[in-house]
Amino acid sequence: PPVTVVAIDGPAGSGKSSVSKEAARRLGFGYLDTGAAYRALAWHAVERGVDTSDSAAVLDATGDFDYAISLDPDHYWVRVGEADVTEAIREIRVTEAVSGVARVPAVRQSINAMFRAMVAGSGRPGVVVEGRDITTVVAPDAPVRILLTAAPEVRAARRSAEISGHDATAVADALRRRDTADSKVVDFLTAAEGVTVVDSTELDFEQTVDAVLGVIAEGG
Ligand code: C5P
Repeated sequence: PPVTVVAIDGPAGSGKSSVSKEAARRLGFGYLDTGAAYRALAWHAVERGVDTSDSAAVLDATGDFDYAISLDPDHYWVRVGEADVTEAIREIRVTEAVSGVARVPAVRQSINAMFRAMVAGSGRPGVVVEGRDITTVVAPDAPVRILLTAAPEVRAARRSAEISGHDATAVADALRRRDTADSKVVDFLTAAEGVTVVDSTELDFEQTVDAVLGVIAEGG
């Protein structure tokens, strides 16, 4: 039987990753963090000293880019070749490089093909796929499509709570810069037709999970 896709898009700090992972757990579904693939490629490029503002150089770096992402919400990891990069892809140097690799169209196409293959081969009844262009590009026909949003100041506050040792203003500025760069590639701040908006501004984690599971129960 075909794998049921739950597509969830949204900006950083909306609670997208933690909520998607928890929803997958409760449903017995797989969990695919698509941002991790872009981060893994950014890590790979940075490690090799590739200038990530140079599209041709980024595309070239995909040639020997071999990565794997766990789809198990209870055992999450990301690998590039033999290296476990689960933690390393969250480093600031990677976060600052990621928009540069994500804006190359040929990179997106090959990564999207990989996502579709991973979902089809997941061995699970369904997969919660989370990112920026899942509802519109990767899985526009998914039976459930959700845009998870939150007010910018709430997103920035959540992010700085996650990242210790950096002042809140710097975190908010970095988030805004990344949103601005990413918005030029995909519009993840407005819901496409048929996409249900869940606004987590006034919700805590449990309430957001419940809201998402409610949308899924209603079939999108
Ligand atoms: O979700 P996360 O913040 O980990 O995503 C990292 C980066 O990957 C984003 O800033 C964006 O540049 C890119 N991305 C993307 N399309 C996706 C998921 C992530 O371009 N579907």
